[in-house]
Amino acid sequence: MADERKIDEQIMGRIVSPDVMAEEHEELSLRPTSLSEYIGQEKVKNNLKIFIQAARQRKEALDHVLLYGPPGLGKTTLANIIAAEMQAQIRATSGPAIERPGDLAAILTNLQPHDILFIDEIHRLNRMVEEVLYPAMEDFCLDIVIGKGPSARSIRLDLPPFTLVGATTRAGNLTAPLRDRFGVVSRLDYYETKDLVTIIQRAARILNVQIDPAGAEEIGKRARGTPRIANRLLKRVRDFAQVQGDTVITREIADQALRMLEVDRLGLDAIDRKLLFTLIEKFQGGPVGLETLAACISEETSTIEDVYEPYLLQIGFLQRTPRGRVATRMAYQHLGLPDPRQGEEEGNLSLW
Ligand SMILES: Nc1ncnc2c1ncn2[C@@H]1O[C@H](COP(=O)(O)OP(=O)(O)OP(=O)(O)O)[C@@H](O)[C@H]1O
Ligand SMILES: [Mg+2]
Repeated sequence: MADERKIDEQIMGRIVSPDVMAEEHEELSLRPTSLSEYIGQEKVKNNLKIFIQAARQRKEALDHVLLYGPPGLGKTTLANIIAAEMQAQIRATSGPAIERPGDLAAILTNLQPHDILFIDEIHRLNRMVEEVLYPAMEDFCLDIVIGKGPSARSIRLDLPPFTLVGATTRAGNLTAPLRDRFGVVSRLDYYETKDLVTIIQRAARILNVQIDPAGAEEIGKRARGTPRIANRLLKRVRDFAQVQGDTVITREIADQALRMLEVDRLGLDAIDRKLLFTLIEKFQGGPVGLETLAACISEETSTIEDVYEPYLLQIGFLQRTPRGRVATRMAYQHLGLPDPRQGEEEGNLSLW
């Protein structure tokens, strides 16, 4: 927990952090509420559409769904949409919030038939709680022990058929027995720019902001494939335009504002660049161990793993090898540095 809090502190104020910022907690209006409003992730959406329709035709609860992928890609949003499409109630909680088996038992016994139980950060459930979940998911029942010592006895409670929707950024941390009990496992991927452009245009309409297609494209390209970041950048660019007295967000305005925020052409910010520069200048591009790298840039290893690294890996700037992290040739090019390993000068592309 302390670790987690530290991560929160460190990324506070970081404009391209995929994590939720304080002002965004109440910001629910930008959240799509139906599958048809949910932009992108076509494969996931099409599958869910079929499973939801089939379950509704059979008048059954939807099979348990696991959603995984990096932060800010729409897992919580999708869980709410699944409930809406199933015309069911959603009960939301999170792995760390369920401390004891009794907490989970209380939640489960209060469910109505076909309800959606959403457990965020499901990889952080403790083992004892997780074990209560197994029979609940599989047979819709709960084994509880009443009393202590020799008079203790176990009774089995029936539960209404429900759907567990689990979300996690770290599917790898899920135990195999838990993972195996999900009938539907969907991975959310970083969004393509065209989808982010649509998301930005939709958010602009809701926020009553005027933006031209080139302006939306500029923000979309710099949003790290992440809707949460796209919405946030849009709001910051809007502030910038407003203060300057501009009524429409154009490419130029978006570009100026994002430069001021130190968000570069690919959406990397000062800390991403510091990480890459350190790797390249202090360690000749690597390989270097995660701990060493973290110490050099004064960040927690978990922050690097969860927040910075996924996108750098995705765009091919970083590689994870058994011996540590390695900067790729593309990272050198982006930073405008010659790659000594290639033996040729190539530092000609611009960051911005
Ligand atoms: N497909 C989408 N279409 C439109 N907007 C989206 C979409 N996905 C996400 N968003 C927007 O991005 C924001 C973040 O999404 P959400 O909170 O669902 O992410 P998450 O995957 O649950 O993140 P975390 O891992 O941090 O919990 C939402 O509030 C919503 O405005
Ligand atoms: Mg979420």
